[in-house]
Amino acid sequence: MVNKPLLRVLKGERAARPPTWLMRQAGRYLPEYRALRAEKGGFLALATDPEAAAEVTLQPIRRFGFDGAILFSDILMVPWALGQELTFGAGEGPRLAPALVDSALESLSPDVTRLDPVYATVRRVAAALPAQTTFLGFAGSPWTVATYMVAGQGSRDQEATRRYAYADPVAFGAIIDAIITTTVHYLIAQIDAGVAAVQIFDSWAGSLSPEQFERWVIAPNRAIVDRVRARCPDTPIIGFPKGAGGKLAAYAAGTAVDAIGLDETVDPHWANAVLPPELPVQGNLDPLALLTGGAALDAGIDRVLAAFPERPHIFNLGHGIGQHTPIAHVEQLLQRVRGE
Ligand code: CP3
Repeated sequence: MVNKPLLRVLKGERAARPPTWLMRQAGRYLPEYRALRAEKGGFLALATDPEAAAEVTLQPIRRFGFDGAILFSDILMVPWALGQELTFGAGEGPRLAPALVDSALESLSPDVTRLDPVYATVRRVAAALPAQTTFLGFAGSPWTVATYMVAGQGSRDQEATRRYAYADPVAFGAIIDAIITTTVHYLIAQIDAGVAAVQIFDSWAGSLSPEQFERWVIAPNRAIVDRVRARCPDTPIIGFPKGAGGKLAAYAAGTAVDAIGLDETVDPHWANAVLPPELPVQGNLDPLALLTGGAALDAGIDRVLAAFPERPHIFNLGHGIGQHTPIAHVEQLLQRVRGE
């Protein structure tokens, strides 16, 4: 704890220079990632090989010295453990089968041992990380995971899942409950294996009406927070409700997360004004400013830094780093945030 700047900020301390990590920092913009992925033959093969997944987790730490290392895995490991088949076809995004829009949850045969390689990865990374680096585990939020489980794939506006939730809230609630149960187990097991904090990714939180947001985003995340915190009271939980916009303060209060991630569409000055003053925030540089580099990147970084003059702040993007982002731009970002 003493030597880990990011963990200290998650526990409510302000740092002179914000500790930094980037969502999707392990991935395709790194040549060393692309080489290992090609050798292993695919994403799932990589994610279920603890030696390779640990190596991919450590690659961006070695190259950039980020303050946080995020476990290399995927939010869709939970649907896989719940019994759906998971494939990552080249260039087409992940697929889950059977899609629950036309198959019952009860037709699946769950197999939580599918998550065991992830815990082996966590143990390897925890043993290899520099002492000052904070190790972050993660899972998807029930709503975002459900959008993939119901549609069987990603979708622009999550219409199939939003319609399902209105048409059959009992069946949809059973899917959400199954995801909650497995996610609680999954996060606690990651913590037991060695992560120091966890993040709940809610990439599609932005598509719901306020009442549906309350029911399918806030309440399920609160259930996860309460159950993980009861077992692991010292482990901070970061919520990342992408697209929540005007519902951010309700999300923070309703879920009781320890820190909140802001996407790039949120005005950071507004967020700073509406969120509780002690709540650590993470974000919210536009990934496209990082892709562009140069003066646009410098100006974007300065705007984010200026918006949080007193609050505990972790520097990050508003969403994942793009695969075509030049490595030199990541170096530029780190130098500027670190004041070098
Ligand atoms: O550095 C890290 O953050 C690595 C761990 C990580 C991955 N996915 C690896 C990955 C994390 C935290 C995720 C989260 C994730 N996965 C989310 C939530 C965050 C977000 O980006 O909104 C979502 C919605 C997914 C589901 C998912 N996985 C999609 C839609 C895709 C395909 C899109 C894409 O970027 O290719 C994936 C595949 C995936 N997960 C890749 C990586 C590095 C790319 C796989 C490859 O190498 O081809």
